[in-house]
Amino acid sequence: MQKTPPPAAQAETRLADYTPPAFLVDDVALDFDINDAHTRVASRLTIRRNPESAAKDAPLVLDGQGQELLGVTVDGKKLSPGDYTLTGQALTIHAVPEHAVVAIESTNDPAANTALSGLYAAGPMLCTQCESEGFRRITYFPDRPDVQSRYRVTIHAARDRYPVLLANGNLIAAGEEDGGRHYAVWEDPFRKPCYLFALVAGRLDKVADRFVTRSGREVLLEIYTEPGRSSETGFAMAALKKAMRWDEERFGREYDLDRFMIVAVSFFNFGAMENKGLNIFNDARVLGRADTATDADIAFFERVVGHEYFHNWSGNRVTCRDWFQITLKEGLTVFREQEFVGDMNSPSQERLRAVATLRRAQFPEDAGAMAHPIRPASYQAVENFYTATVYNKGSEVIRMIQTLVGRDGFRKGLDLYFERHDGHSATCEDFVRAMEDANGADLGQFMRWYAQAGTPVLHVTSRYDAASREYALDVRQSCPPTPGQPTKEPFHMPLCVGLLDAQGNDMTGDLVLEVTQARETFVIREVAQKPIPSLLRGFSAPVRLEYAYDDSELLVLLARDSDGCNRWDAGQKLFTKYALAGEDLPAAFLAALRAVLLDKDMEAGAKAMTLTLPGEEELGLALIARGEQIDPVAVYEKRRKVVTSLAVALADDLWTTYRDIAAGLDEEASDGESRGRRSLKNLCLAYLHRAEPEKVAPLAAAAVSGTRNMTDKIAGLTLLVDGDSPLAAPALEAFAATFAASPAIMDKWLGVQAAQRRPGVLEKVEGLTGHPAFSLGNPNRVAALVGVFAANPYGFHAPDGSGYRFVLDVVERLDRLNPQAAARYAKPFLRWRDFDAGRQQRMRETLQRLAAVETLSVNVREVVSKALAADQ
Ligand code: TRP
Ligand code: ZN
Repeated sequence: MQKTPPPAAQAETRLADYTPPAFLVDDVALDFDINDAHTRVASRLTIRRNPESAAKDAPLVLDGQGQELLGVTVDGKKLSPGDYTLTGQALTIHAVPEHAVVAIESTNDPAANTALSGLYAAGPMLCTQCESEGFRRITYFPDRPDVQSRYRVTIHAARDRYPVLLANGNLIAAGEEDGGRHYAVWEDPFRKPCYLFALVAGRLDKVADRFVTRSGREVLLEIYTEPGRSSETGFAMAALKKAMRWDEERFGREYDLDRFMIVAVSFFNFGAMENKGLNIFNDARVLGRADTATDADIAFFERVVGHEYFHNWSGNRVTCRDWFQITLKEGLTVFREQEFVGDMNSPSQERLRAVATLRRAQFPEDAGAMAHPIRPASYQAVENFYTATVYNKGSEVIRMIQTLVGRDGFRKGLDLYFERHDGHSATCEDFVRAMEDANGADLGQFMRWYAQAGTPVLHVTSRYDAASREYALDVRQSCPPTPGQPTKEPFHMPLCVGLLDAQGNDMTGDLVLEVTQARETFVIREVAQKPIPSLLRGFSAPVRLEYAYDDSELLVLLARDSDGCNRWDAGQKLFTKYALAGEDLPAAFLAALRAVLLDKDMEAGAKAMTLTLPGEEELGLALIARGEQIDPVAVYEKRRKVVTSLAVALADDLWTTYRDIAAGLDEEASDGESRGRRSLKNLCLAYLHRAEPEKVAPLAAAAVSGTRNMTDKIAGLTLLVDGDSPLAAPALEAFAATFAASPAIMDKWLGVQAAQRRPGVLEKVEGLTGHPAFSLGNPNRVAALVGVFAANPYGFHAPDGSGYRFVLDVVERLDRLNPQAAARYAKPFLRWRDFDAGRQQRMRETLQRLAAVETLSVNVREVVSKALAADQ
């Protein structure tokens, strides 16, 4: 093995080192002068020493990157070079009085900003992204969320190129200026941290509506898009109004400004951003109709619009003290988003989706070299910690609190939290303390969820004593070691259980057992017969449950459990068992699946989820849990074998279901119910494609050319490409000819090809990097091609290591443009130790090559060095 020097150690920022800011900023006046070549920013900061700071004569340190400083004054007096120190990271002013007005002028170049952090050009417009630390790329400022200020923002620009000028809050003045220029003045009456600052300028189309809050205030709602796309805002506007009403009704939270704006931009590193009164969205998460977006895309619109809107309270009115507390706003807001989506659609299906997402995206993080608790104790690049752990496991932690204190108690605790901390920054302890104080609860041990990483395992065994009619559950909890945490203390968690009789009738309803010890026994009395336990109902804790069910018990649960999660999970357990064993499904399981397919009462979307096997990712984790290593291609083949056996066995019923739904489904309909039916229809078709490919291929080709519905087109294209059908090439060509001018639609076309489960997919993907539809400069294009490829076992995990080399080459090149995005594609390497010996060696060699690149960003360097660290 080649030798490379160990990567240079980078500084870790630690939670334990937190100190309050030396200075506070009460008022910020910003003046933006937008020109073709650059933007000049004049800022006027009204500052004072922080009485809470122990550093009584600390200098004023203002973060700043990537700008040119033109001048600084303090209380109107121009500073000379000896009065301050300027580095590539900060402007330090040595002697500053208790109170002062600091005025700074600087310039930056949005057109050259490929990192999409700070002020940047997003296609035809200029926009900002300041979370986490982008504001320092706009002006010199104490860029930390515990500094909260009132903002007044003036924007000047040429009217023809930038007719729309937006910032946070309320528009208070606008007018003409000489030379075809104009200006707008915005004022945000609420104090906010600088990461919630936003500005947008450009030629934009707009759709407007209004909402009357429960106290009778009228709010103007506006959605802005690039020219020509305003007809794709319908779902988002409807979702926004639903979210505003729902937050009033469910949590008593009312909107607080006169105006709420959403801007859809085509260059964005994440899904969306909750800037106060001016949310900025990745256009893929907000724009689309049935003929331009898939049902999966459309389902996201309501979810993400709700999520960002809910941040107005959980994140903006009460924000985070520091970036270790991201889960304080994100875990809580994901929880609120899931409750909203459930209430608007189907609560039980939304719960299944959330559980499946956690297992697919978060459990692997816990198994990797950057496993971290929902509140990390340290980081090198904070953007690397906007993870499924912080977001989705964070939401599960909030949900456990709700289970422990009850729905009403949770609402009381949340009210107290908002009342205590409104207008301030807070910590996770503050949140939990509000829950304790409102409920007289003790959540001391529960706080371990914020500090310990890893997926806990609950090993459960049971004993029934017919004489005493007692049923005992022995519960043992453990949690595997994670980097820096070799041993764990027991967690406090709710274990929701029910007991079924042999026919599947519920004998007990839901019982919530509070697990707190490494080992404990719970005795349930007056149990009339030996029960089948329904354990971890509702997925009441984010753990892996081990209980030695036999098939007959799982079949009863699958058919009869009153808990939707466990009905679904019984099927998942059986699928996993037979897939990993490489065996065909037994007749009794097939009969149960057939009953699900034909059930008259079950929602189509829930049927589709029940009939879908655990993904390759989850099956891989199941192997690790057994102490085996993963050969991802073999896992895929085993999964496919089960898919084929199901398809062959149920072909007639799959055809009937397919035809019934196809006959009655409107191609224009994209409501939740229609989306569920379409998903079941296309699942049937995908199964049938395994059993009877020659019969299905013409139907798939007809879907690509013969419908206007994008979901059906993509489903058809996927089957043709995956089956390597002779119909695939003409279908791809025709699709590209139709949609060449729509980059967001071409992303799906790239993704279908990158997902092809066949050897040789790498050559195709390499070829596509030269296609006009692809660009390394746009994160959505990279996600569509490279992100999808990195999840394809035949591509990424090709036995010769070519997939690893391709992805890390992309990381290296992308890192020079956009470090936040680049680091994302290094993350799959964090799990190299889980694979077979040959793959381990190739992944490690590829990582070492990247580690030897001296110019890596902090973001990529952190992932690479932690992947290679010896400490596991
Ligand atoms: N706060 C955003 C959310 O709603 C996440 C986000 C958007 C973000 N853009 C970002 C995080 C850039 C870090 C960097 O979840
Ligand atoms: Zn968020």
